[in-house]
Amino acid sequence: MKFFVDTADVDAIRELHALGMVDGVTTNPSLIMKSGRDILEVTREICDLVEGPVSAEVVATEAEAMIAEGRKLAAIADNIAVKVPLTWDGLKACKALTDEGKMVNVTLCFSANQALLAAKAGATFISPFIGRLDDLNLDGLDLIEDIRTIYDTYGFDTQILAASIRSANHMSDCAKLGADVATAPPAVIHKMAEHVLTDKGLAAFLEDAAKAGIKIV
Ligand code: E4P
Repeated sequence: MKFFVDTADVDAIRELHALGMVDGVTTNPSLIMKSGRDILEVTREICDLVEGPVSAEVVATEAEAMIAEGRKLAAIADNIAVKVPLTWDGLKACKALTDEGKMVNVTLCFSANQALLAAKAGATFISPFIGRLDDLNLDGLDLIEDIRTIYDTYGFDTQILAASIRSANHMSDCAKLGADVATAPPAVIHKMAEHVLTDKGLAAFLEDAAKAGIKIV
């Protein structure tokens, strides 16, 4: 499973990238707002840092305007994936932009039917939002499983990009279910390294190392 980082914080991306944890980046208007930076400027900086796909989201709601914004975003760098919402106009923009050879990430997906339409429209990525479904007491992971089954049954190339990830468990669950990509905030990726038994075991080893006077360098 590929790891995308769900942030527009360049320093956080740089740190994870140095560890080989970044196969791509996703942003959205809320994350751009949080960064306090200009969308074109910060997106260019991220594209210079990361080789993989960098999702940048349109803000228009009509297809023609989305296509114009998508072209402008795609001109930033070759690794831009234009992010469009899963509306009827978004699907039109997806078809037009993928026909031009651009990568498109169809976002705000909450049902298997929506994922089916995005694949038919040629989406490069579909972004089912797990956490926001969980917030409504629905099971976001069921959606990942359903989309995996449908895409595999019919051989769709669209990659499942699990989004709205809120916990380390979401990451391993998505990996088990066969998501192609999971995009997570930096804090969740850090959390994946943690285990209480690792901390406990290390404390015991360090105590014994001190008692034994072990010195390596
Ligand atoms: C990623 O593409 C999405 O924009 C993001 O994962 C949404 O996450 P949230 O539901 O935590 O805002």
